[in-house]
Amino acid sequence: MLGAPINRVDGRAKVTGRAKYAAEYHPQGMKYGWLVQSTIARGTIESIDDSKAKAVPGVVAVITYKNAPKVNEQVEGGFDNPVHLLQNNRIHHDRQGIGVVVADNLEAAIHAASLLDIKYKVEQADTNIHGPGRKEIAPPDNPAMGVPTDTTRGDIKAGLAQAKHKIDATYIIPREVHCPMEPHATTAAWSGNTLTVWEATQGVSGVQQRLAHIFSLPKESVRVICKYTGGGFGCKGSVWVNTPMAALAAKVVNAPVCLNMNRSQTFGTVGFRPYTEQHIQIGCDEKGRLTVLTNIGRMEGAKFSEYVEYVGMPTRFLYSCPNVEAKHRVIELDIGKPTFMRAPGEAEGTFALESAMDELAIATNIDPLEFRLINHADKDEQKNLPYSSKNLKECYRVGAERFGWSKRNAKPGSVRVGNKLVGVGMATATYPVHAFPAKATARLNSDGTVLVRSGTQDIGTGTYTIMTQIAADALGLPLEKVTFELGDTTFAPAGVSGGSTTAACVGTAVKEACEELLEKLATMSGGEVKSLDPNSYAAILAKANQTEVEAESGKKVKADRSSEKYSMHSFGAHFCEVAVDVDTNEVRVTRWVSVMDAGKIFNHKTATSQIAGGVTMGIGMALTEESLVDSRYGRTMNADLGEYHVPVHADMPVIDVSFVEVPDYNANPLGGHGIGEIGITGVAAAVANAVYNATGVRIRELPITLDKVMQTA
Ligand code: MOS
Repeated sequence: MLGAPINRVDGRAKVTGRAKYAAEYHPQGMKYGWLVQSTIARGTIESIDDSKAKAVPGVVAVITYKNAPKVNEQVEGGFDNPVHLLQNNRIHHDRQGIGVVVADNLEAAIHAASLLDIKYKVEQADTNIHGPGRKEIAPPDNPAMGVPTDTTRGDIKAGLAQAKHKIDATYIIPREVHCPMEPHATTAAWSGNTLTVWEATQGVSGVQQRLAHIFSLPKESVRVICKYTGGGFGCKGSVWVNTPMAALAAKVVNAPVCLNMNRSQTFGTVGFRPYTEQHIQIGCDEKGRLTVLTNIGRMEGAKFSEYVEYVGMPTRFLYSCPNVEAKHRVIELDIGKPTFMRAPGEAEGTFALESAMDELAIATNIDPLEFRLINHADKDEQKNLPYSSKNLKECYRVGAERFGWSKRNAKPGSVRVGNKLVGVGMATATYPVHAFPAKATARLNSDGTVLVRSGTQDIGTGTYTIMTQIAADALGLPLEKVTFELGDTTFAPAGVSGGSTTAACVGTAVKEACEELLEKLATMSGGEVKSLDPNSYAAILAKANQTEVEAESGKKVKADRSSEKYSMHSFGAHFCEVAVDVDTNEVRVTRWVSVMDAGKIFNHKTATSQIAGGVTMGIGMALTEESLVDSRYGRTMNADLGEYHVPVHADMPVIDVSFVEVPDYNANPLGGHGIGEIGITGVAAAVANAVYNATGVRIRELPITLDKVMQTA
């Protein structure tokens, strides 16, 4: 059962529209909230005239800093970020929430918001890291992420001196925006001092904790429900303005309030992948062995709250090299706060590193794949630890074979088919194995069905499905006897669905809860119960005079010290072919092969989708995605999907995904790694490397648009 490519257990509910998302809960008496956002990036509000807005039929309230209740805006550490909740008239960034209009219907709320007459005292906003007077900040180490800001090992000067071939280049990735299919949405309802929130989130527990803090409530007074999330990619991993603002509005109008954001409102306000520049120095000896590797990352950040994109992480361990340095510097600006976006750090870090590796391989006249094998790291040289599991060489081998890498023509610009120049490229993928605490419960009912629950989320990844598989497997039951429920803070708590943790961590909790249930039944029946025999469970319950029996995970768990003994990462290899139009210089990806090493795969269908989704997002990163800010006004210019270009089906080749499936029981009892993020890592480099092979043009600044190919050629 575990591993079987079964269809999503929630698939039917989704395609028939029965799956309810946050904005689809309509409690009795619900009103519609509409967020008012600043049209400047820095300054203060001088005045707000809301008379016309209030006169719109159906408008219930206009809430601004003038009349908003006092709440706790600031966070007390952890992963979360401060959001501005109408506590004063200060504007910190473009599109900051500066009010909520509440009305009987959405149209009235939107219309009334447009009638607000807001006068600002505008100040010049700093929104470009290269502007005058910018200061580079060396942020403190981040113990929560387990990441030091700066590391140096060996002797960089000596490494540079030893290098026979060298590349010294800077790689640039613009700001990117998550753009999940479902924008942020919250429905909030108060009952006395108890708050219930239906939320589009990657983490119900985090939302609960944050709302409790904002409204000075005990955690138990806040219930967060999220049965479905229409994608997150990191932007729903923490609390943003929509959530507390909906609750605040509901409190003011004394009725439930639903607050949706439209696409444009989410640009720059609910996190984004920050603009980064990576200065790489890399060198090798005559045999192609690395002698030096450095990466100095510079990035945009918000003045009001720190966030560091750890672009240097892959530099530190991905290849064997005696002299390595990675540093991170933040330039603080008048912008919204950046946040985690699918493989934060690794997605960008692998673009720079894997492009530079390609450049150096070519400079050394060694095949790029061979070059990576020469520099393969048998252990993690940064942590000086063995890998819990690493089958990267096998990924290279399988990928090269499936792709036909041996047919590569090393001479750039030498393959022309019609009016297209055709090229191939490859890159390594990597993402760490993180772990968050998680719990689950399993309940046997007298009809022989089992209900398994955990306060986790399914952000479109397949959590419902694989947890059902894991439970059925642990209990020896057919799938249809098991129901898995999630997305409710009244369930046993789990972590954020981020960091590619849910499958393995919640999966382990589910497995434990089921094993605990079998033990309970064994005790009740006076014998060992290996699995639930559909013919005997009822008898056990009946004999014990019970209608149900429930067990919780975590009884047997000992402190897991495996991360002190092993370096734990997933690995993979991407191979791609591009066709570049000789007249327009437009780049199309025409073939793709990905081979991933992520331990045991729990469901081959959903896992393949995860990797294909990561590759798709990576192709967007490589070719089209770019959130642009007009630095004169600090405003995002292309804040919709007509102007911010995510890839569509017509942009996608068939993505050939396979797995080198070696279970990693050092990581967890299921032997699996998460796969939500690794798919995107290395993708942009593979594309850039293929563009070079096709044209001889090296693009170091994403996205690889036709103007860049043309200008550089
Ligand atoms: Mo992710 S960027 O860990 O949601």
